[in-house]
Amino acid sequence: MKVVVTGRIPDVGMAILHELVADAGEVWAWTDDGPIPPADRARELADADAVVTLLHDRVDEAFLEEAPKLRLVANVAVGFNNIDVDACRARDIVVTNTPGVLTDATADLTLGLILMITRRLGEGERLIRSSTPWAWDMFMMLGAGIQGRRLGIVGMGGIGTAVAERARAFGMTVGYHNRRPVDPGTEDRLEAAWLPLDELIASSDVVSLHCPYSDDTHHLIDEQRLAKMQRSAFLINTARGPIVDESALARALRSGEIAGAALDVFEHEPEVEPELLGLDNVVLIPHLGSATVETRSAMAELAAENVRSFLTEGKPITPVG
Ligand code: GLV
Repeated sequence: MKVVVTGRIPDVGMAILHELVADAGEVWAWTDDGPIPPADRARELADADAVVTLLHDRVDEAFLEEAPKLRLVANVAVGFNNIDVDACRARDIVVTNTPGVLTDATADLTLGLILMITRRLGEGERLIRSSTPWAWDMFMMLGAGIQGRRLGIVGMGGIGTAVAERARAFGMTVGYHNRRPVDPGTEDRLEAAWLPLDELIASSDVVSLHCPYSDDTHHLIDEQRLAKMQRSAFLINTARGPIVDESALARALRSGEIAGAALDVFEHEPEVEPELLGLDNVVLIPHLGSATVETRSAMAELAAENVRSFLTEGKPITPVG
């Protein structure tokens, strides 16, 4: 039995994998910084039964060609747009992800970004760090209050719902768009109304993205949709970068077509559209949605438990699709 891990994961995940194979197999992990070099990957995948992948590994035909014995891909992320699930299915390879365990961390971070951009916290920090002289006054760096404002959630799954709960505690009202309306109990509890996407975008003060990335959601927020947003509105993206046309966003931010944006993810990650770097009305952070010690450990643990459950009982815990 051989399990390949394509990058560094928290110890708790590695311990489960080592215990699983014990003397009857091998766990091979790429433990240096940066992505696993192609030659190492091909050599190690050649006899792998399971692989633990990270969100920037592309599990495509080329990857699968290298892994003729592979039966399981355990992605350490809730998003699995990096994996060609159909190609895996065609080869009877099961795919798992890590839903649930990162919901709170990502929802917390989303609220952090909403507050950062509406209250201009990044700008304030840059001011202090630049040693620019300043003195408090009534009109200094005024932001936008969020109480009574509408949050428009695009993608009302676990994370979208957790964001809505937090936003309600901050006094926001909630509208959402989802392929299917959520259950009436959740709608009632959050006083959240389903709206067609364009209507939601046009009527929200803050639009926050929580949908999966797929061909259907590529550039869901494009030039036309940005033009539909209110000039006073903010866009938050903690989902996946390519859901937003990043150069159209930079133009909309520069021209004042929208008030601001806060991005945790980027269209060509880790590259960032250079024009965004010079703008004050955008917050830019490096894909930190699930980045707490507790959450990353829980993600590694769930991915490793998927490997264990699948290889010992044939039953993955959180399969996708
Ligand atoms: C993080 O981006 C994830 O999908 O888990």
